[in-house]
Amino acid sequence: MTAASEEYISTGEWTSLNASETFDLGKQVGMQLRGGEILLLDGPLGAGKTVFVKGVAAGLEVDADEVTSPSFTLVNPYQGRLPLFHIDLYRLDAGASAAHAVDLDELITNEEAVIVIEWAERLGKYPLPPCWHVKIQGDGDAARSIIISRGSATKD
Ligand SMILES: Nc1ncnc2c1ncn2[C@@H]1O[C@H](COP(=O)(O)OP(=O)(O)OP(=O)(O)O)[C@@H](O)[C@H]1O
Ligand SMILES: [Mg+2]
Repeated sequence: MTAASEEYISTGEWTSLNASETFDLGKQVGMQLRGGEILLLDGPLGAGKTVFVKGVAAGLEVDADEVTSPSFTLVNPYQGRLPLFHIDLYRLDAGASAAHAVDLDELITNEEAVIVIEWAERLGKYPLPPCWHVKIQGDGDAARSIIISRGSATKD
């Protein structure tokens, strides 16, 4: 049984009224991480995925100011109380090639590592171990709905 198969991360639905509430929720999750987790984030452009990841980083004792969108590098590594890999697949075509482009197979062999993926739907049906899903709805000035759940790698 892998660490990620237990229900030790809070699941449910939250309403976030501003970026700092989204950050704080990410931080709560970050504090609950044990290593070996994969967090799949989805939500429209500007939803707050990167804000949430900054919170996760803070919960892992990484300086959140260091965390920037990995747009060009695709994978940003950080070292906190656990290794954190922040991936953004926005610029990649959907499918297995997206996973290969970021060498996901290799990353998930690191049992200590936490892997957080923005635009995770680009992975298509790429097979992954059980993951945590973070779905953010809303953008602009609107309140966000954030749903955290556990499930298989594909979105639904
Ligand atoms: N409740 C909220 N939660 C998160 N961000 C919010 C909220 N309200 C407003 N914002 C603003 O929305 C923006 C979210 O930007 P962010 O880069 O995190 O989005 P993203 O989902 O990562 O977008 P992209 O798809 O481009 O990577 C920030 O400017 C943030 O200040
Ligand atoms: Mg982002």
